[in-house]
Amino acid sequence: MTDPPRIAVIGARGQLGSDLITVLGEDAIPLGHADLELTDPASIDTALGVRRPTHVINCAAYNLVDKAEEEPEAAFRVNAFGTRYLAQWCARSNVVLLHVSTDYVFGLDPDRCIPWSESDATGPVSAYGASKLAGEHFVRSICPRHFVVRTCGLYGQHAPRGKGNFVETMVRLGRERTELKIVADQRCTPTSTADLANALTKLVRTDAFGLYHATNSGDCSWFEFASEIFRVANLPVKAIPVTAAEYGAKARRPDYSVLETSRLANVIGGRLPTWQDALARYLQS
Ligand SMILES: NC(=O)c1ccc[n+]([C@@H]2O[C@H](COP(=O)([O-])OP(=O)(O)OC[C@H]3O[C@@H](n4cnc5c(N)ncnc54)[C@H](OP(=O)(O)O)[C@@H]3O)[C@@H](O)[C@H]2O)c1
Repeated sequence: MTDPPRIAVIGARGQLGSDLITVLGEDAIPLGHADLELTDPASIDTALGVRRPTHVINCAAYNLVDKAEEEPEAAFRVNAFGTRYLAQWCARSNVVLLHVSTDYVFGLDPDRCIPWSESDATGPVSAYGASKLAGEHFVRSICPRHFVVRTCGLYGQHAPRGKGNFVETMVRLGRERTELKIVADQRCTPTSTADLANALTKLVRTDAFGLYHATNSGDCSWFEFASEIFRVANLPVKAIPVTAAEYGAKARRPDYSVLETSRLANVIGGRLPTWQDALARYLQS
């Protein structure tokens, strides 16, 4: 009988990390920020060296998309060079690395309107997206037994305190206001971390290494997503569609970043549920 895998989850107190710990159960080795500092190779060495995982899933990231425009070096320190240290440790130790990335590695093609596949050329339009793409390159070039999984618009029960997530923000603002302006000219697929954690747990137990896209199914604009949140949560707030330019966020986001997910579906035996189904379950819980 083979030993069960020992799967270290870095970023274990975040949205995705927390759900992964739940789904992985006894196989999980949770590592929060206090246990492991991604920007410090000695911290990686110590934290992973004593726990001797067979697999590492990296959910830790510098995620402040707008702030990254002011301090790109901070984003690169974590998302690019921290990831590089981790990939080096995993390669040296012959450990499988599953690294989580983002749809923000796309966006440069203004005419795009069909889902991005794993073989499409990247082109980020923000410092955050560029830092995550650099992290992908390090994993793919350093660690032979890797999965790089791009996902999109995450929301989960363990949203960071103070920062929240899009769904929590819409529910809070929907209770406080009568009208809300929401961006209507960017399309993607908001994804539940509970559903993503289920998919990653299946994928990481395979040896089908490589690059994957993993989101809930279907796609919508942020305006459509917010309207569905207000409908399901029974909030009488009026959603007003605006353009991203009118909204005026500091960082540019892709106009279209719907990801094609059939490669993952072929490996784990099906696509993730639709974004409407995932949202309804999230709001019910
Ligand atoms: N959120 C989204 O909409 C979204 C969309 C696409 C892709 N992604 C990617 O999905 C992954 C998971 O995202 P998430 O939303 O679950 O993130 P999250 O909730 O913000 O959790 C990230 C965790 O990483 C930890 N962390 C940050 N910097 C670290 C460092 N230098 N060393 C060690 N730990 C560190 C954070 O701890 P502290 O809070 O203590 O700093 C936090 O617990 C990330 O790779 C992200 O880039 C996210």
